[in-house]
Amino acid sequence: MKLTKEEKERLEAIYQEFLNDERIKRMKEVPMHFGSNCYLHSFKVAKKAIKHALHFKKVNLETVLVSAILHDYYLYDWRKDKKLKKHHGTRHPVIASEQALRDFGISPEVQRSIRSHMWPIGFTHFPNNKEALILSYSDKDIAVKEFLTSSKHKKKKEQKYYDYISTLFDD
Ligand SMILES: [Fe+2]
Ligand SMILES: [Fe+2]
Repeated sequence: MKLTKEEKERLEAIYQEFLNDERIKRMKEVPMHFGSNCYLHSFKVAKKAIKHALHFKKVNLETVLVSAILHDYYLYDWRKDKKLKKHHGTRHPVIASEQALRDFGISPEVQRSIRSHMWPIGFTHFPNNKEALILSYSDKDIAVKEFLTSSKHKKKKEQKYYDYISTLFDD
């Protein structure tokens, strides 16, 4: 899929609005994958998901973008709570989708993508369209890279990561 200048600008504008939203910035306080945080993770996933989506035809890019940014909008540190820890894998997509609906009024398609992003964990929520599959794949892609990078390395590269996520499109 090739984007027109206007389409690119529209997606970039949506991305920037979320990037600078004070409610979204709370994800910086949620630790993730050995030294990363939920904010960095989510915008990395969003960039990756859009890159993947552009390889396909007839994908709703706005659904991909918004669901990627909000897929982990659960806003708590599950490591600090035994109960939350036990069911985090299956519960956080539902909590993220409910909170994203409450705060940003997301569409039913975005809600469904968020709920199925952990599949096959949470077996009943299957990613049953292209947008949901792209999100689920991109999340795993980024998560694996974050798991394989040491927290020391992440600390050193933190500013680079923030520079990287500062725009949706690199050119
Ligand atoms: Fe997640
Ligand atoms: Fe994630």
